[in-house]
This record gives sequence, structure tokens and C-alpha cells, in this order.
Amino acid sequence: MKVLILYKSNYGNTRQVAEALARQIEGLGHNAEVRDLRLRLPNLKDVDCALIGAPTRIGRATWKARRALRRLRRKRFGAKPLGIFDTYGPLPVDPGELEKNRKWFYPGAAGRMQEKAQKLGLNVFLQTLRCQVQGMKGPLKEGEAGKAAQFAREFIATIENK
Ligand SMILES: Cc1cc2nc3c(=O)[nH]c(=O)nc-3n(C[C@H](O)[C@H](O)[C@H](O)COP(=O)(O)O)c2cc1C
Repeated sequence: MKVLILYKSNYGNTRQVAEALARQIEGLGHNAEVRDLRLRLPNLKDVDCALIGAPTRIGRATWKARRALRRLRRKRFGAKPLGIFDTYGPLPVDPGELEKNRKWFYPGAAGRMQEKAQKLGLNVFLQTLRCQVQGMKGPLKEGEAGKAAQFAREFIATIENK
């Protein structure tokens, strides 16, 4: 299979998640292309499925990610499986603080993108991948790249079993 992995990243954390997904997918014997969302979408004809990711900012996904979802639909990607991921955080350590600021972290860029993709009628994978950063600009929390690898395995397995 050919898997397209689209990402937007300001400080490199979401790109690292995209690359971790690609490494795992290639390890499973598939072809993965990682592509910055600032570039135009490539030819989608030979692409079997895609993953799209963005950082959470002000509680949502950047407009480039939302625009890419519209473009995927316009380019008739609708029936092909699409997985969604984001980065978010850092989460407040104090539970009261977290509760008060919940809306900035949940459902985050991934949840918002998923909602939009569903509205557009895209074939979205129900699970999303969310990777936490330790500080506003990163780095990723320990173990988050491993979570990405696990997500990639589940995404591919679900498609292969259909
Ligand atoms: C202007 C700005 C606003 C942000 N707003 C949020 C937010 O509302 N919720 C959140 O979880 N993280 C927020 N963050 C942290 C980002 O999620 C974090 O910078 C991002 O995950 C890093 O990914 P990147 O390196 O791929 O850009 C914000 C960061 C910046 C710089």
C-alpha cells in the first residue's frame, strides 16, 4: 500500500510524530510519503490511504489542516481511509487547573479535524492519535513516539482486514 502522511508543524514535534508513523508503516512493508501541508497535495491516484496531523493551537487545528481536508474531498479521496493525529499540551499539572482549561486541550486539533472530516463525508478512522508535548514548543513527552507506532499498526491492520 502507499500511505500519504500529511502534517503541519511549527516547532517540529508534529513532524516527528509523522516520521514515527512513517517508520512503522515502512517497517510493515508499505510505502510511506511524509509531506508538509504547506506544500500542494501530491497526486492522490496511487495513494491507498492517508494520515493527517497538526498541532493543537487555541484549542483547534490550523487552517492549513482544515483546508487540506476540504482538498482531499475535492480530489475524491472520500472513500479511502483517513487517520487523524495531533500534538497538544503541555497539560497543567494541577487537576483543578486542567479542569478549568479543559476546552483548550480536548478534543484538540485531532477531535476538531475528525469532526470536520466526518462532516465532509471522508472515510475517517474512528480512533485518533494524540501526542503530548512537555513544553509549549516541545519536546514530545517520553513514550509518545511509541504510541504513534502502535497507532500506525492498528490503522494498517484495520485497513488490511477489510
Ligand atoms: C500560539 C500557541 C497556541 C497554543 N495553543 C494550544 C492549545 O490551545 N492547546 C494545546 O493543547 N496546545 C497549545 N499549544 C501548544 C502546541 O500544541 C504545541 O506548540 C505543538 O504541539 C507543537 O507542535 P509543533 O512542534 O508540531 O508545532 C499552543 C502553542 C502555541 C505556540
